Amino acid sequence: MALYSDKVMDHFRNPRNVGVIEDADAVGEVGNAKCGDIMKMYLKIENDTVADVKFETFGCGSAIASSSMATELIKGKKLDEVRELTNKAVAEALDGLPAYKMHCSVLAEEAIKAALDDYYSKHPEKL
Ligand code: FES
Repeated sequence: MALYSDKVMDHFRNPRNVGVIEDADAVGEVGNAKCGDIMKMYLKIENDTVADVKFETFGCGSAIASSSMATELIKGKKLDEVRELTNKAVAEALDGLPAYKMHCSVLAEEAIKAALDDYYSKHPEKL
């Protein structure tokens, strides 16, 4: 069996939603001190919904695939749902990650949570 699923390879080779949103409503940046990988998420939020999302990931292939898949999972979603997104859901949507690569999907969950924290700190009335 291949180490990485077709979906992981696809999102690694053709990551969706790569880039920067200049006028983002929320930005979250996280890093993993062990591997040194860094992920940054930009959200555009309208009517409590993720109207647009982009990411920049300086990291391994699984981190790139995880951030790409995570952006696809939250695009167009209500913030209530976005808050519930777990790294497990990201890994499942990718048809799995090798156990020692699960922390790469954690980075995606944390980047989104960091962006939400940023949003709620600017808009506490939304919580
Ligand atoms: Fe660090 Fe993948 S090895 S995020």
